[in-house]
Amino acid sequence: MDSSAVTEELLKIPVTKLAVGMYVTAIENNGKVAIANAGQVKNKEAIRKILTSGIKFVWVDIAKSAKGSMPSVKKKAAPTGNRSVRQQNAKKILGEAKGLIKKVMGEIYEGKAIEVEPFAALADSMIESVMLDVDAFKCISALRSKDAYLLEHSVNVAFLLVTFGRHLKLDKELMKQIAIGGILHDVGKIRVDNKVLHKPGKLSPEEFEHMKLHQVYALEEMEAARGLSQISKDVCLMHHEKLDGKGYPCGLKGDELPLHGRMSCICDIFDALTATRCYKQAMSPAAAFKILLSLTPFHLDQQLVYEFIRCVGVYPVGSLVELSDGRVGIVWDAKDRDALHPVVKCFYSLKHYRYTEVDFIDLNKSELEIERGVSPSSLDVDPTPFY
Ligand SMILES: [Fe+2]
Repeated sequence: MDSSAVTEELLKIPVTKLAVGMYVTAIENNGKVAIANAGQVKNKEAIRKILTSGIKFVWVDIAKSAKGSMPSVKKKAAPTGNRSVRQQNAKKILGEAKGLIKKVMGEIYEGKAIEVEPFAALADSMIESVMLDVDAFKCISALRSKDAYLLEHSVNVAFLLVTFGRHLKLDKELMKQIAIGGILHDVGKIRVDNKVLHKPGKLSPEEFEHMKLHQVYALEEMEAARGLSQISKDVCLMHHEKLDGKGYPCGLKGDELPLHGRMSCICDIFDALTATRCYKQAMSPAAAFKILLSLTPFHLDQQLVYEFIRCVGVYPVGSLVELSDGRVGIVWDAKDRDALHPVVKCFYSLKHYRYTEVDFIDLNKSELEIERGVSPSSLDVDPTPFY
């Protein structure tokens, strides 16, 4: 069994079961998870305080809790730990997010203004979940569907922004505003001609000019939206701006682009590059990083791109890699490891062109190495069932 999966295992317990020595990482009140001031329960007084505050459940980090403070917990046989639960949760949020974006796009189509409240709630749950397990989300967003691209892309960009914001240690409220902007960043596309929007392959110069209009429409939508913060609006309106002033819709330049605006450009391009579309192959994250770097410093902020690479990782959790023995697997666990030695869940052999027995390879304990990143679309089999 893979020990790293155990170290990151969180256990949800009712407050009544809380004991001195347990390490609390998050609390749940009225069905909402909030990140607590993480720490060990020092004494009975601390428990009494939590009990009287109305909190019903807490999340306890098993590895960080004092020995003997935890009730005996049966470990699962699979080395996925609580990952599968968190992935289920991630999937649920993705589903809700897509539903919400679909609804708001329909409303914009009917001429209604954007209402911010449901997006704020969604941004909250995105942040909470990313704080609980950022890798669960990376894994889920690695599962890309070819259709419903706009929805998929909007949600992915929002999650990438939250993940990036967490890496940059941004304030939670700022992250929330950024996430809302991320979910809504392409709303202007609803008014772009479907023939142009869904055209497979490269757009003609005229079609590209028409596509650029989505940001002019976005200006109008952001103007009409009720309760949207300036930061959320910026994230939406700045994702096609460039540092040299040659972007659109406003041609903003240098310092006119704040941190959150610069982040939105990076996340938008990265997601577009690593997505599978009907007309193009998905790119591996490593290949996408090269392109991001080639767009610095005239378009993207170079330092920020380097930070982004550090944040996502060369072989991010959820991405596919080929090992030196020809086996292909999903990067499964990278927590507290260097970038080149994650745990990889192997399921296919490129040498024999057939599925293999599923095997979790801990590269810290194996002679094998990562040979290269593999894009899902270059495989002739579907990796989806193995996520
Ligand atoms: Fe866009």
